[in-house]
Amino acid sequence: MSKKILVLPGDGIGPEIMAQALAVLARLQRDFGLDIEIEHALVGGASYEASGRPLTDETLQRARAADAVLLGAVGGPRWESLDISLRPEKGLLGLRAGLGLFANLRPAVLYPQLAAASTLKPEVVSGLDLMIVRELTGGIYFGQPRGIRRLDNGERQGFNTLVYSESEIERIGRVAFETARKRGKRLCSVDKANVLECTELWREVMTRLQRDYPDVALTHMYVDNAAMQLVRAPKQFDVMVTTNMFGDILSDCASMLTGSIGMLPSASLNAAGQGMYEPIHGSAPDIAGQGIANPIGTILSAAMMLKYSLGAPQLAERVERAVSAVLDQGLRTADIHTPDTRRVGTGEMGAAIAAALG
Ligand code: IPM
Ligand code: MG
Repeated sequence: MSKKILVLPGDGIGPEIMAQALAVLARLQRDFGLDIEIEHALVGGASYEASGRPLTDETLQRARAADAVLLGAVGGPRWESLDISLRPEKGLLGLRAGLGLFANLRPAVLYPQLAAASTLKPEVVSGLDLMIVRELTGGIYFGQPRGIRRLDNGERQGFNTLVYSESEIERIGRVAFETARKRGKRLCSVDKANVLECTELWREVMTRLQRDYPDVALTHMYVDNAAMQLVRAPKQFDVMVTTNMFGDILSDCASMLTGSIGMLPSASLNAAGQGMYEPIHGSAPDIAGQGIANPIGTILSAAMMLKYSLGAPQLAERVERAVSAVLDQGLRTADIHTPDTRRVGTGEMGAAIAAALG
């Protein structure tokens, strides 16, 4: 039966990179038996321009009704002065919360062809294959109370709340342990338990959960040390599990190990296994409309969608192999370009990957 995909290109480079992921999916439909129906909707600044809201109820309903959501990126300087409740990012956060997408999987895998594109030494990153499991619907991103208030002395004060209940920690913990079980069986839980009570509880729950997964080796690390270890010796990690904000920061950090933030896909899953797929990079307004953005993070997000939501792991592998083949051909977008390779634009990279599917 045909599966329904809701495509949300978003803002900035979103539409450009999405067009390339759609070209790849179109070839899979035409030549490899992929049975999907694609619908489009607006999110972020694009939605705000059309309706005055970064996410409409109708779009959220359509996302709920879809088998999977494929998203580009949101945000841009044009909307930065809006009230925070109307900013493009709220559209993305509204989708995550509205769909209950609490488990965010962010794999950082180095394609060997890109070892020289990383700012780190090739021997530090070659063979890198790590998975960051980021909690996505809780923590300081969503905690109440929040806001900017006026103090008695007239000064303003900004405040946010870091909060996790045991059940929230447990459900992301189980996803992380299950993920580690299918990989190298090592899980590193990242917290700041030496300072923040909330993550002291996080550590306690992770430690308790470990009894259900005796085959997985659990370690704990403070987030400052984890950031340092990611650039010092990233291959020590197999799976990392962490809070919403720490995961946001550490995944950007991990992305540079792979050569460019433009390479990293992600999957966000809810309890029913429904998913939203997006590259981890933002809308890059500085290069939007120039046709130079790297579409690989979005194309690999579509591959994750094939694997996790569409029951088509072989097609996912086909896409990953095509990306690798095109890198073998020496094609590189500006962000991963090195002197001995051929620099191409967004469209040429996407077309080459679609052609390399087989
Ligand atoms: C990400 C992004 C988002 C986040 C922004 C755009 C709200 O940085 O997906 O990592 O902070 O989660
Ligand atoms: Mg981020």
